[in-house]
Amino acid sequence: MKKNGSTSNCAEAMKSLALQADFAKSQRIALPMSLVGKRILLIISAGIAAYKSLDLIRRLRERGAKVVPVMTAGACEFVTPLAVGALSATPVYTNLFSREDEQDVGHIRLARDCDLIIIAPATADLMAKMANGLADDLASTVLLATDRPVLIAPAMNPKMWAAKPTSRNVAQLRADGHAFIGPMRGEMAESGEAGLGRMAEPLEIAAAAEALLDDGPKPLAGKKIIVTSGPTHEPIDPVRYIANRSSGRQGHAIADALARLGADVVLVSGPVTIPDPKVAKVVHVERAEEMRDAVLTELPADAAVMVAAVADWRVEGASPEKIKKQEGEGPAPLRLTENPDILKTVGHHAQRPKLVIGFAAETQDVEKNGKAKLARKGADLIVANDVSPETGIMGGTRNRVKIIAKDGITDWPDMEKEVVAEKLAALVAERLSAQ
Ligand code: CTP
Repeated sequence: MKKNGSTSNCAEAMKSLALQADFAKSQRIALPMSLVGKRILLIISAGIAAYKSLDLIRRLRERGAKVVPVMTAGACEFVTPLAVGALSATPVYTNLFSREDEQDVGHIRLARDCDLIIIAPATADLMAKMANGLADDLASTVLLATDRPVLIAPAMNPKMWAAKPTSRNVAQLRADGHAFIGPMRGEMAESGEAGLGRMAEPLEIAAAAEALLDDGPKPLAGKKIIVTSGPTHEPIDPVRYIANRSSGRQGHAIADALARLGADVVLVSGPVTIPDPKVAKVVHVERAEEMRDAVLTELPADAAVMVAAVADWRVEGASPEKIKKQEGEGPAPLRLTENPDILKTVGHHAQRPKLVIGFAAETQDVEKNGKAKLARKGADLIVANDVSPETGIMGGTRNRVKIIAKDGITDWPDMEKEVVAEKLAALVAERLSAQ
């Protein structure tokens, strides 16, 4: 095997990581150290998505993991072992046939001396080799020799993903017990084609790794928690709808964090493009009325966390046919009617969960409006945030919230939505255990 990456590059990378850590400290950003002490072998195969593997290394390391990269020959055409080694601050292994390094570490030791193997990006070719037990380079040999869990993050052209041989191989790999994250729907970097094939984002892959390696405490074991997430779509006709802006990222991250603490989470999600988190049950809905029905069906529950951006109004008498433009007659009139308030219904329900948490997305008077919502909706806590466009919170990856309770307001600093989710899940556990 061949090692790449010089000491000076490693030193540079360490310096840059130290600077980032200082920056995080100065901003009082809590980095989630959920992978401390874990050793992750990261296999990078050939694909344009390999550029995201560089960020993945950072994400895994900031969670405390040690990352040892293995690159296929093709991967080295997309990103250099130098860059990969600089970010991982460990040697990068690329070649099976180097006698010196084979004696030094050995592919069998590489395959076994880790807690988890992540393949990101995983090409159709590497998955085909794995599914059939081929081992003609370092990556495929390590994968055949390992007895560790393997997390696969595929990335390829949508037609290649949909192709019958790929489907057969994926089914085989699942049957062999390997875990998958993605591929996601989106536009391909190289061809601009849209469809299923884009590699999952580094944060999503890191979260999946955390879930696979999670051996932490389960203070919410046996607790049923309902979470709503995403927007609702209220039809105008079969092709048009009214919606709120919401990616579902915060709600899904909360569902995921609660499940990691052992809760039986039922996630009721509006239409989103992000993947379902690993929770007990996911109910997909479109409209607010469907969301309300799905939530009420799940009562009784120990807690409810309502994160969805529910559309306040729906169109009365939505047209079953597409409304056509009538030349010269102006736009078709729309009559709106109010949607049910799901949080308020749950907050005042005969089977009200012990803990009811709502969100308040505001563009002004965040505290005043948040407090008013707490009282009006019968919630125990309101997680309030300023979603003015300049904050970039709506659709973004970070959030800055205030926790509004009857007995006071706590400000949380700006942090990743996943970290907000972890802190909120810990607060839910604390509140439920105190009751
Ligand atoms: N919510 C809900 N059902 C609705 C509207 C809102 O369950 N029909 C929930 C949201 O999930 C969130 C909280 O109520 O937890 C506050 O949502 P928000 O849209 O900020 O409040 P609104 O009640 O819609 O008030 P306004 O639009 O006037 O700010």
